[in-house]
Amino acid sequence: MQYSYHDLNHVYQGEIYGIQVFGAAAKLTWKIDDKKKWLRLQQLEIQTLERVEQHFNKINKSLPSVEWYGAYGKYKGRIDGAALGLLPWKLAMRFLYWGSKKSQPIYHRLKELALSDEDKQFFGYILAHEKSIEYFAKSELFNQKDSLIEVNRLLEAHK
Ligand SMILES: [Fe+2]
Repeated sequence: MQYSYHDLNHVYQGEIYGIQVFGAAAKLTWKIDDKKKWLRLQQLEIQTLERVEQHFNKINKSLPSVEWYGAYGKYKGRIDGAALGLLPWKLAMRFLYWGSKKSQPIYHRLKELALSDEDKQFFGYILAHEKSIEYFAKSELFNQKDSLIEVNRLLEAHK
């Protein structure tokens, strides 16, 4: 059994994309509080990309077209992030919520099909990080406090 190339690429590209999205959104958001929130999300994406690179190196997973996909993720991320930064907050949260929902079946599948305990743990983290972003967006939509609680928990746990 092998992992699907498409799924693994999604894990990698998703983080490159996320870093750009949240960075661009933070730049264009004028409210200080919202800017801080985007930057916190970006920190989680940076941490996650580091973990992805470490893990792929460890299990010797090379991603042949990584550069092309990386560039695509980068530019698409900047454009989408700029849009998120300019949209009204609630609408941006709606897009963020949909976006985070979209990747979850892939991360779920990878976790279920994990070839080792180590991989299972790793894909479990990938899924959890996406869920923490979904939790954030949902909490913001419903004006709940502590919307970043799950994001912060992951950042603290993997310092
Ligand atoms: Fe991510």
